[in-house]
Amino acid sequence: MRRLSLALLTSAVVMLAAARPAQAQATDPPEKLTLEACGDTRAAVEFPHKAHFEANECTTCHHSQEDLTLEAAQGGMEVETCASCHLEPEEADTPACTEKSLKKNPFHINCVSCHKDAKAEDESLSAPTKCAECHPKPESEEEEPGG
Ligand code: HEC
Ligand code: HEC
Ligand code: HEC
Ligand code: HEC
Repeated sequence: MRRLSLALLTSAVVMLAAARPAQAQATDPPEKLTLEACGDTRAAVEFPHKAHFEANECTTCHHSQEDLTLEAAQGGMEVETCASCHLEPEEADTPACTEKSLKKNPFHINCVSCHKDAKAEDESLSAPTKCAECHPKPESEEEEPGG
């Protein structure tokens, strides 16, 4: 019996490992994310997470978890998604991520304000600040008919 349950446990661990092939370690934060939980009036936003977490403190963005660090995440600390609080905020003054406005959507406040500051310092940076740079237009809207 003992040996059987050990074998079952081992195969469960192998299966779990195989289910997450893209990650260097099963516990590393995701390298890239597609942000799309807040609605679909605009295209989903591609977010190079790793480039950002290597250059900034985790809490710059994950403001609800003061003790979040790379080591804590690798150690198994659960990370709350932004949408879990910002999709249907409990308080009226908490910004909602369904908003179109650059001043009211928590992602726009967080992402765009840092990008604007960064570009004010160094124009050559590739930090997007325009709608279509983050929410690419469907090709049909970009191209002339027939062209
Ligand atoms: C730096 C990147 C960035 C820029 C620039 C940006 N957005 Fe967003 N926007 C996001 C992210 C990230 C979300 C959250 C996406 C999600 O989870 O669905 C979002 C969400 C939205 C949403 C709600 C979700 C939806 O698709 O219905 C709307 C509407 C929106 N943005 C419109 C705009 C408009 C209009 C502009 C320009 C004035 C703009 N955004 C500029 C990153 C950006
Ligand atoms: C520039 C902003 C930013 C920084 C800095 C950042 N993150 Fe994130 N992180 C995000 C966003 C945005 C998401 C997507 C959340 C969502 O889906 O609502 C995310 C998602 C995650 C997730 C996945 C959560 C899930 O269950 O989907 C983990 C884990 C994570 N981050 C860990 C970290 C760690 C650890 C650090 C610091 C080493 C860090 N992040 C730094 C913005 C950031
Ligand atoms: C546990 C719930 C929770 C999570 C998770 C969460 N937030 Fe928030 N957030 C709030 C609340 C509540 C407020 C309003 C009160 C405050 O500013 O703390 C807020 C405010 C904000 C603000 C507005 C600050 C200002 O100056 O007006 C931004 C920007 C923001 N959140 C971005 C994010 C991003 C990006 C993520 C994910 C990386 C995230 N939040 C995750 C609860 C959360
Ligand atoms: C604390 C500052 C900061 C925050 C917050 C931040 N970014 Fe950035 N981001 C940057 C900087 C700086 C660059 C330019 C890096 C470079 O050119 O080397 C950048 C670049 C990018 C790029 C372009 C990457 C490339 O390879 O061209 C994308 C896409 C991006 N950010 C998306 C986002 C989204 C979406 C959010 C919010 C969820 C976000 N960023 C939040 C600082 C930030």
